[in-house]
Amino acid sequence: MFKLAVVPGDGIGQEVTAQALKVLDAISKKYNFAYTAQTGLIGGSAIDETGDPFPQETQDLVAQSDAVLLGAVGGLKWDGPEMKVRPEQGLLGIRQYLKLYANLRPVKCWPQLIEQSPFKKERIAGVDLLIVRELTGGAYFGARGTKVVDGISKAYDTIEYSAEEIRRIVNVAFDLAQQRDKKVTSVDKANILDSSRLWRKVVLEEVVKHPEITLNHLYVDNCAMQLCLNPAQFDVIVTENTFGDILSDQASVLGGSLGMLPSASIGAGTALYEPVHGSAPDIAGQDKANPLAAILSVAMLLRISFQQPQAALAVEKAVETILNQGLRTADIWTPGNIRVGTAEMTEAIIKEIS
Ligand code: NAD
Ligand code: IPM
Ligand code: MN
Repeated sequence: MFKLAVVPGDGIGQEVTAQALKVLDAISKKYNFAYTAQTGLIGGSAIDETGDPFPQETQDLVAQSDAVLLGAVGGLKWDGPEMKVRPEQGLLGIRQYLKLYANLRPVKCWPQLIEQSPFKKERIAGVDLLIVRELTGGAYFGARGTKVVDGISKAYDTIEYSAEEIRRIVNVAFDLAQQRDKKVTSVDKANILDSSRLWRKVVLEEVVKHPEITLNHLYVDNCAMQLCLNPAQFDVIVTENTFGDILSDQASVLGGSLGMLPSASIGAGTALYEPVHGSAPDIAGQDKANPLAAILSVAMLLRISFQQPQAALAVEKAVETILNQGLRTADIWTPGNIRVGTAEMTEAIIKEIS
């Protein structure tokens, strides 16, 4: 039987994961497949209970699972710059432990939310792009430190990539582009960074093996601008860890809200699914969080790990239907629509599925 590990984490991570699980339960009944779900600690809640943001027990749990559903980690309680043990270390820990080097973040413009967007309708209509973010390298995992030199405090972080790390992520992007519009934009800062020059060299070596792909390169600053100016030009964007983090939050606005953006992280074996957003301390505990990013992450889980494409589509269709009905959490609400909370939105989806 399919074994799912559930690590809700902190803040709205707990709220949206609970809702996403309800949807998974409903869809499994509808499509007649079975799974087990076992919960583990990660992030701040794991620090509180065990002192460790990614405790041994959770490591064992995810190692024995076929897939992981994660909420979000972090919160004000563990956020001081002086904190040595931090929730985010748990997230980096699980990504490294499961070797999740490819983070897939699809962004599409939901026509139902176009009015809500700060962008002009004609700019974002038809946006359907995929950010392929390298997830186990770069500044997140490079050498870092703090030191005092001549009485002055200094700190450093290093971006380090091997050619092989770059090769495997760009090939994920090329393979995924093959199933889409066959267009890849590689994003780097090769005018400044050695790591980006190696990135570009490897991209150029690999693209010759994919003759059907149209490739272009953008510097990350230009890419950020192009995402506002003409976002419909993009099909697949492939980039290193930090750039991918920043560009995906930015791109989420094209889709209506960060609360709409799902993700899948793929690696050596067990895959992990999580919304792109964080624990949102500003709205945690108020039934305000948009559960759709987590629910759409379940759709990705169904498609990729469960191999249940029909069920995945049914979840996505249900999301579309309730948006058509005008149901909106606060982050996507506009006048004339129906304001609902986290739980009510999920109930509507489940009703639709069942
Ligand atoms: P955040 O993504 O938590 O929130 C950014 C803004 O978006 C906030 O105004 C929040 O209310 C809003 N938002 C986010 N998700 C939403 C949702 N589902 N529905 C409605 N509104 C939503 O980012 P932040 O505030 O910069 O970080 C808060 C904490 O989360 C930090 O501790 C950070 O490290 C952590 N974080 C964790 C993850 C993760 O676990 N994957 C991702 C990002 C940030
Ligand atoms: C994300 C988050 C994480 C990241 C943080 C919380 C470590 O912002 O998943 O996008 O930067 O990868
Ligand atoms: Mn992020």
